[in-house]
Amino acid sequence: MKFFIDTAEVEEIKNAVEFGIIDGVTTNPSLIAKSGRKFEDVINEIVKIVDGPISGEIKATTTNCDDIIKEAEEISKINKNMVVKIPMTPDGIKAINVLSKKNIKTNVTLIFTATQALIAAKAGATYVSPFIGRLDDISTRGMELIEEIATIFRNYDFKTEIIAASIRNPLHVVDCAMLGADIATIPYKVLMQLMSHPLTDIGIEKFKKDYLNSNK
Ligand code: E4P
Repeated sequence: MKFFIDTAEVEEIKNAVEFGIIDGVTTNPSLIAKSGRKFEDVINEIVKIVDGPISGEIKATTTNCDDIIKEAEEISKINKNMVVKIPMTPDGIKAINVLSKKNIKTNVTLIFTATQALIAAKAGATYVSPFIGRLDDISTRGMELIEEIATIFRNYDFKTEIIAASIRNPLHVVDCAMLGADIATIPYKVLMQLMSHPLTDIGIEKFKKDYLNSNK
């Protein structure tokens, strides 16, 4: 299972990369806006830190097929690792068809149904990003979507990889791993939660106390 970090905060990416377990990065317009920086500045820094797929999303105002293709070509030229993130729309699908034939990597975002994932895979998307957390937020089981997409892609041997997105907690990561999502894109806070357990902290404290007592 690959881990991507889901952030546009360069310091978080630098810290996460030090663990040696980060395979790529995903950003979106909201994460870039939260960083308070320009898309190009953030992406140009990220490509120097991570040697793996880096998803940069087209402008939220770019909606027609020809404009999507044009902008995707520009994003893909930034660096060999760039993956163009495109929202799941009919124009987006048309554009992905063209881009896949030009070997431009795409990540279809805002996937909320298995049919959307199937269409994106048929269009030649490199990745699909089903949003688990946002489904859970509206009382729909996001994990069922991961299971459906994983089954469909396995049945037909699609090469499109599943990026489990909108991850909110460590159990999302565990469940995605059990269901066979290829990738989890994880916010920094959740990445740190994956490593910690209160019993580990208590155990370390006890070992320390016992060691110091026996070495007085
Ligand atoms: C990543 O590709 C998505 O844009 C991101 O995971 C969305 O997460 P959110 O639902 O917490 O905004």
